[in-house]
Amino acid sequence: MQEFETRAIHAGQPPDPTTGSVMTPIYQTSTFIQDGVGQPRGYEYSRSGNPTRTALEDCLASLEGGEYGLAFSSGMAAIDAIVHLLAPGDHLLAVSDLYGGTFRLFESVYAQLGLDFSYASAVDPKSFVEQMKPNTKLVWLESPTNPLLQLCDIEEISRLAKARNSEVLVAVDSTFATPYLQRPLEIGADIVQHSTTKYLSGHSDVIGGAIVTDHPKVAERLTFYQNAIGAVPGPFDCFMVLRGIKTLAVRMDRHCENAQRVAAHLEKRSGVERVNYPGLSSHPQYELGRRQMRSAGGMVSFSVEGGAAAAKQLAEATKVFSLAESLGGVESLIEVPAVMTHASTAGSSLEVDPALIRLSVGLEAVEDLLADLEQAFP
Ligand SMILES: Cc1ncc(COP(=O)(O)O)c(C=O)c1O
Repeated sequence: MQEFETRAIHAGQPPDPTTGSVMTPIYQTSTFIQDGVGQPRGYEYSRSGNPTRTALEDCLASLEGGEYGLAFSSGMAAIDAIVHLLAPGDHLLAVSDLYGGTFRLFESVYAQLGLDFSYASAVDPKSFVEQMKPNTKLVWLESPTNPLLQLCDIEEISRLAKARNSEVLVAVDSTFATPYLQRPLEIGADIVQHSTTKYLSGHSDVIGGAIVTDHPKVAERLTFYQNAIGAVPGPFDCFMVLRGIKTLAVRMDRHCENAQRVAAHLEKRSGVERVNYPGLSSHPQYELGRRQMRSAGGMVSFSVEGGAAAAKQLAEATKVFSLAESLGGVESLIEVPAVMTHASTAGSSLEVDPALIRLSVGLEAVEDLLADLEQAFP
């Protein structure tokens, strides 16, 4: 098999057979002519399938080392399709630190429809898996977690979960890691999901989601939901994600380098209470990170002395870091999760420390990023 960087540029994207176009064409069409009644040439209707989307799906599957790739109109749409694998009365056990939108989907949409959710820390795989119930059908992991940058031991949790119930599916939201840094399917997970909005597209100019799995039956059901529900990405958006993926490896290397420098700097700084970054030897799961991930990623979070007011003041004072939600683009972003990305967890057991700041460390010169943070501290 070719190396990751080569597959990122070529997998699923041979030159167009009719014109020789090196870049995958944007098949901006909703429908496809049929040679006779019930005789399509391969595609019928772009909700069910589109050649630009196929290129993206094949590329994503290749990068995750999986058999089946599916693209969605957003990360949330991808998560929604996975939750559809459950039926009323089924239980989903999720890691207790997770993206606020995922929590909102679980609690404010699907709990109302009779699905049962519970949350537990996954730092200790054994006690996490002990929270499984007889009706647990899906274990939901996020690694690294958003916003605390905790790691789930994907291999150990998958092994223990399947030992308790061989039928249970383990899904991993691997958005923070990308397939360049971590490949959950290769270490025991059944389903990997991404918000391609983030590092995969990498330029903050598209919303998208993806799922990769090796299970033919799971893939068949997810493909059914993808078409039946219809939360599919348009051909142009698929092209944008494909274009981003071509530079994923080089971008991630620099995101990781810059984030490591920023985290190390913050760790030494007065006014900072705690830095969460799996690449710091002070991170409680530093060793797991070294085993499970190629490098620690581009996301850093830290809590500041002075509580919510201090966090707000700092987040509003940076000039190179833009105050905005989202992550994974070439530009650096800063946000306060408790009132921004994770506002939906307010009042719940998943509520986030109001003094926590989250950084998406971009590709600017790291000296400028450090100087920007310095001038923002009071
Ligand atoms: C870890 C994680 N998963 C899923 C999502 C949802 O993705 P999208 O915004 O593309 O729907 C996000 C968005 O921030 C995220 O951070």
